Amino acid sequence: MNRILIGAQWGDEGKGKIIDILSRKSDIIVRYQGGNNAGHTVKFDDQTHILHLIPSGILHKDKVCVIGNGVVIDPAAFFKEVDVLEKKGIRVKGRLFVSEQAHLILPHHRLMDCLREEDAKKGEQIGTTKKGIGPCYADKMARVGIRVGDLRNLPYFKERLEAVLKERNEILRKIYKHPGLSFKEVLAECLSTRSRLLEYSIDTPSYLFSASRKGKSLLFEGAQGTLLDVDHGTYPFVTSSNASVGGAITGSGVSPTLIDRVIGVVKAYTTRVGEGPFPSQFPAALMKEIQKKGDEFGSTTGRPRRCGWFDALIVRHSVRINGLDEMALMKLDVLSGLPELKIAVAYELDGKTYGDFPPSSCDFARVKPVYETMKGWKEDLTHVKRWKDLPANARKYLKRLERLMETPIRMISVGSKRSQTVIL
Ligand code: IMP
Repeated sequence: MNRILIGAQWGDEGKGKIIDILSRKSDIIVRYQGGNNAGHTVKFDDQTHILHLIPSGILHKDKVCVIGNGVVIDPAAFFKEVDVLEKKGIRVKGRLFVSEQAHLILPHHRLMDCLREEDAKKGEQIGTTKKGIGPCYADKMARVGIRVGDLRNLPYFKERLEAVLKERNEILRKIYKHPGLSFKEVLAECLSTRSRLLEYSIDTPSYLFSASRKGKSLLFEGAQGTLLDVDHGTYPFVTSSNASVGGAITGSGVSPTLIDRVIGVVKAYTTRVGEGPFPSQFPAALMKEIQKKGDEFGSTTGRPRRCGWFDALIVRHSVRINGLDEMALMKLDVLSGLPELKIAVAYELDGKTYGDFPPSSCDFARVKPVYETMKGWKEDLTHVKRWKDLPANARKYLKRLERLMETPIRMISVGSKRSQTVIL
């Protein structure tokens, strides 16, 4: 069984916990897009692990993990994570492979990401994680990127690096009034991790194809969420990769004909970190309350996440884009104690009502949500194990969400531990 797990909102849905559960029935866990901008929090053996680049499946001793060609890799960040895991006694070497075709995040990418954000006018900032993700993907598309496998051929690597740095330095000096980066220093940084990184690198598409032919089951671990997808999200306030289902295919080299199921992950409410429109955002007091109750602070940057009511239109958009077969719904427990719950069921724009997420960014920035209101529940849900033990109003809320999402909910999370999950 080959499954893809996708965030169906703006990321931070709680994918780490579901990947951890699904990893048990998978042989190989594959990351296919994004980089160390992601942050997957997993509680495992009474320890909390935050993984940014390495698939969460690494926490299971007998699993193999793959970082696919669609991922962008900052070698220093990669080895920081490897070292933390190994220090905790989790063996990584020999069961973690990196694609030769994955692009490298280099010092000028990180620098450009920071300078662009600092230079942008208010309202034009993306609120990036400043990890160099956007500039690295931009180089990939402009065909001037440098890939992991290029490190094998040192003269070729040096030549490409020198050429791209020359051009970037011109931009840094002329546009950002920055002195530029020294080729010698950037090269030294790359060489410091070169041989170690090459030990992890293989031809991942071939590896995954033959593993799948031998009957191994693959789990594709999405990072970020569909509304942050560069094509299908709330452009330009998105990340620079395809966080929706297509990214799993191009970012791993595995054919769609080999995929059996696509699973979506949603929070019982909505959150967003970084800039960009958010129609169902809570008023300030409620936002503070939910941020605190739900521990809504970014695991990569520590920034508080904006919080809001469940927006059925953005999730239905995700269901359609990804062809989601089922949903895992997270953090239902956080809503306990609210007297009433709102759900955005339509948008209003220029006096008209719309039932679907609009393709135009300008329209999305101006929509006002139309809410449906439901009664809340007081009970603490963190000990609930079965559907029938959920309060009646919680069940009604979930049933309504299922209808609005046009997709069945198969897992409900009521706490961060693996045991705090209702499986339907
Ligand atoms: P970038 O991916 O660092 O370029 O940031 C682009 C946008 O995506 C910003 O709004 C970030 O806050 C957001 N973003 C990137 N990674 C994540 C994530 O893992 N969870 C939630 N938001 C993210």
